[in-house]
Amino acid sequence: MKKILINKNSLKKLVKKIFLNHGLKDQHAEISSNYIVQAELFGATSHGLSRLKMYCDRIKKKLINTNPKIKIRSISQSITHIDANNSIGFVAADVGIKKAILNAKKTGFGLVGIKNSGHYGLSSFYAEQAVKKNLTVLCFTNAPPAIAPHGAKKKLFGTNPICFGTPSASKIPFILDTSVSMINRGKIRVAAKLGNKIPKNVALDKFGIPTTDAKKALKGVQLPIASFRGSGLAWMVDILSGVFTGGNHGGKVKDPFDDFSSPQNIGHLFIVIKSNIFVGKNYNTRIKENIKLIKKLPKIKGVKKILFPGENKYKKYKSNIKKKILIPINIISDLKKLGYNL
Ligand SMILES: NC(=O)c1ccc[n+]([C@@H]2O[C@H](COP(=O)([O-])OP(=O)(O)OC[C@H]3O[C@@H](n4cnc5c(N)ncnc54)[C@H](O)[C@@H]3O)[C@@H](O)[C@H]2O)c1
Repeated sequence: MKKILINKNSLKKLVKKIFLNHGLKDQHAEISSNYIVQAELFGATSHGLSRLKMYCDRIKKKLINTNPKIKIRSISQSITHIDANNSIGFVAADVGIKKAILNAKKTGFGLVGIKNSGHYGLSSFYAEQAVKKNLTVLCFTNAPPAIAPHGAKKKLFGTNPICFGTPSASKIPFILDTSVSMINRGKIRVAAKLGNKIPKNVALDKFGIPTTDAKKALKGVQLPIASFRGSGLAWMVDILSGVFTGGNHGGKVKDPFDDFSSPQNIGHLFIVIKSNIFVGKNYNTRIKENIKLIKKLPKIKGVKKILFPGENKYKKYKSNIKKKILIPINIISDLKKLGYNL
């Protein structure tokens, strides 16, 4: 079987058609296909097409609700609580970030907690929407067990990404979007599927021995960034996204690929703040100065340019958007299983 190249519009149409055929509403299929193709364009293949079959399998098993009654409850003009009723995560998060943006524009500050959601892809999808409106944003989501809490033998925390975005006074958004694991789980899943090795020092097998075998790593535990500090950050995200919102927490988020016993009930938390809330019009000058100071620092050997978070991803996106998207063999086979021959 050969690899196939496809343009982004055709790919989006195909993914949307697959979602529609699985029963998603037109608007939900539009949102979800858009985010999946975006992930491919950002080079995050672990969060794009490689998850399409998983979403469809969960829809077929009625673990993702194709007709959710999403409840949006205003607690104040700034604070909103959303029960996503097991909608696909992309839709729950899309509704949530748009509400947080509206709240922040009205009052200077928007806080949205979401429960009964599912895997929502990249946090940067949502952060970018706020940054484009000149807002500063924090996004949190929990994820299925992958990391052992510091000192424990068993995986419990997800790779629980932390995402911060703010306008950079340039066309490139400043977006720090990072898992709190050494590498994100999606990359390990892709390596396991393709039979590739994973880097050293990112995971232990089920006996607690360091491994570069992706399949063994999935059965064992992933290592957090920075030892107990990373474990602490994973815990913080579990509290903010799960304990706070009413979502699952404490290791109860279902693994979307392997656990079909019930919906995931993931929680997300979005905090959106007007960037100029304290310093008014000076925000742009101040952030520009901040970035300039850092970029001008002397560089270590081998580094040509100091980048701010998000700059690398933006450049990749700009370059990928001009090219066709490569569909690897394993995805062609997933599409076949979903009834589509490329
Ligand atoms: N939904 C979920 O459950 C879930 C779980 C985990 C991760 N994710 C997503 O996976 C994605 C990938 O996470 P990751 O940890 O692999 O990201 P990564 O390691 O590729 O990048 C982390 C951050 O570091 C920045 N960065 C990278 N190189 C840099 C450099 N040279 N200089 C300055 N900054 C640099 C990036 O722009 C990014 O903001 C994220 O978008 C995250 O939201 C989602």
